[in-house]
Order: sequence, then C-alpha cells, then structure tokens
Amino acid sequence: MKPIGPLMHEHRLIERMIAVIARKKDIMANDRKVDTVFIDTAVDFIRTYADKTHHGKEEDILFRDLAKKTMSVDHTRIMQELLDEHVFARRMTAELVAAKESWIKGNTESITIIVDRITTLVEFYPVHILKEDKEFFFPILDYLSREEQDAMLAEFYEFDRRMIHDKYRLVVEAFEK
Ligand SMILES: [Fe+2]
Ligand SMILES: [Fe+2]
Repeated sequence: MKPIGPLMHEHRLIERMIAVIARKKDIMANDRKVDTVFIDTAVDFIRTYADKTHHGKEEDILFRDLAKKTMSVDHTRIMQELLDEHVFARRMTAELVAAKESWIKGNTESITIIVDRITTLVEFYPVHILKEDKEFFFPILDYLSREEQDAMLAEFYEFDRRMIHDKYRLVVEAFEK
C-alpha cells in the first residue's frame, strides 16, 4: 500500500462524521438548543482523530519528509495552504469549545457562535480533503522513492499505535491534576 492509502481512508471517516455533525447542527439551530454532550463527542473526534491522528501523520511525517525535497512551486504553495488550513481548523474548534462553555454558563446568545463555527467546520473539511485527495497526495508521491514510501507507511502505523496510549495517558493525567 502507498502511504497516502491510510490518509485517504481516514478522509472517508472524517467525511462521514462531518455529515453527522452537519445534521446535528441543523437540529440545534432549529430548536435553539445546544446538545453539549454531542458537541463534546464531535470535538473529541475532531481533536483526537481528525487533528492529532490524521493531521498529525500529515504534518509530522508526510509534510516533514516533503519539506526535505525540492518540490514544484505549486506543490510548495499547496503544502503551506494545507498547513495553514490545519491551524484554521484548530482555531475554529477552540472557538466552538469556548462558545459551548459559555452556553453551559447560561449565555444563550452563544448558540449563534456555536452554529456558526460548526457551519464553518463542516464546510471547511470537505474542501480541505478534496484539495489533498485531488491536488496533492498523488502528485507528491513522485518525490518519494519506493523505499521512502514503505518507511513512511511503517512510521504511520507506529504513529497510530502510540496515539491511543497517549490519549488515555492524558485523560488520566488531566484527572490527577
Ligand atoms: Fe490535512
Ligand atoms: Fe487530510
């Protein structure tokens, strides 16, 4: 398998969750009532799966290796855009969490921010994923030798293996504080 295989596979699960989040957002907007438990679950999916696990492999392994290559002007630009977009998604997610906390404290106005940030995220992810799938992942394979691609795939698996342990170690540490 090529190293972009697992990344594209993860894109499909992110798309499915984004569709679920979009539906829930419409219900919340309609009812003018925030489902805070659902938002916690959605944020955990975005932060742990879409960001730490998926963007993590892109940034810490794929983009790291590509940064050592001499890429075309277009591919260099797209990689920077993708990095910037990951930062944007983190900011939108942080603002969603802040608005949810505000709602819990009784600020009913914050539903507007909650719906807005979710709308931004559900519109953002499919566009970001399409850019990677259609404009980046296949052409950049040309910069990597067969051996480099095999090593990258192995590093991806090791990255995933560590992820679940890191997540629950952090859960325990958070409660210990
Ligand atoms: Fe990405
Ligand atoms: Fe991606």
